[in-house]
Amino acid sequence: MAVMQNIISVEHLSKVYASGFEALKDVNLDIRRGEIFALLGPNGAGKTTLISIICGLVNPSSGRVLADGHDVVAEYKAARARIGLVPQELTTDAFESVWATVTFSRGLFGKPANPAHIEKILRDLSLWDKKDAKLRTLSGGMKRRVMIAKALSHEPQILFLDEPTAGVDVELRRDMWDVVRALRASGVTIILTTHYIEEAEEMADRIGVIHRGQIILVEEKAELMRKLGKKQLTLQLQEPLAGVPDGLDAYGLELGADGNELVYSYDADAEQKGIADVLRALGAAGIHYKDLQTSQRSLEEIFVSLVSERT
Ligand SMILES: Nc1ncnc2c1ncn2[C@@H]1O[C@H](COP(=O)(O)OP(=O)(O)OP(=O)(O)O)[C@@H](O)[C@H]1O
Ligand SMILES: [Mg+2]
Repeated sequence: MAVMQNIISVEHLSKVYASGFEALKDVNLDIRRGEIFALLGPNGAGKTTLISIICGLVNPSSGRVLADGHDVVAEYKAARARIGLVPQELTTDAFESVWATVTFSRGLFGKPANPAHIEKILRDLSLWDKKDAKLRTLSGGMKRRVMIAKALSHEPQILFLDEPTAGVDVELRRDMWDVVRALRASGVTIILTTHYIEEAEEMADRIGVIHRGQIILVEEKAELMRKLGKKQLTLQLQEPLAGVPDGLDAYGLELGADGNELVYSYDADAEQKGIADVLRALGAAGIHYKDLQTSQRSLEEIFVSLVSERT
């Protein structure tokens, strides 16, 4: 059934804030059950606004959102019960204990107490030994994990993580990725926003890019990398060059590493990649290289070029 394939559907959603600012413009987006969806976009693009509407915290100006078949405005309670939200801004009650705050959060959703479930969440998030600690005594990364624990307290099927790893060190970021993957494996659908492109690259099944309130692209990550991911061939030269020699300008070569490298960009999908021609031309020009590597253009570069095309 098509309806059940998509756990969230956003239809013609627009948001004009009271200030008159149009933060979302006719957004259409489907989130598939069980996927990890990464929403990328520059500051002010509308990511938090979109999430806030889906979670029923901000009213849409027009359009509608269904969460697991429930309209997030007309059937707020039913929709919200299915959703966990880790907001961008950390809000915690400094004087509560970890255990109390997560338990209380579950109660807010009218779910009966379930200490075994709370214990499992805290253990999964490596917070068990901090269960009696007051929130103000925790580090920033631990507080963020407490926010995740709160968001999971009522056993939601959908989890929103708005910038989950902002200001989190590399090691903890990896831990959080593991947590998110484990959640997905348990059947939770995850939507995350991030400024760290490597996070989307590492985690996401699909990627959406939002820019100035409009979704400009939604694509399978692998497909996006394949379609837009130019490959580069880097040659480490034996002797540095002052410039790209005549006769090689046809290949669009770029000089790097103070003239010690030549970089050739090519379309990974093309029939004729031109590599053999470049190497032949180098030979003819008497340029020798010590070594060569190929690399794929990162999502970061893809994203920058996508957004800059529109400005
Ligand atoms: N309550 C509000 N009233 C008026 N304008 C708002 C309000 N909240 C957000 N905006 C504006 O809407 C736009 C989108 O904001 P939003 O917070 O959704 O962006 P974002 O993509 O989450 O950005 P960031 O990456 O910085 O978190 C911004 O221009 C912001 O200033
Ligand atoms: Mg935001």
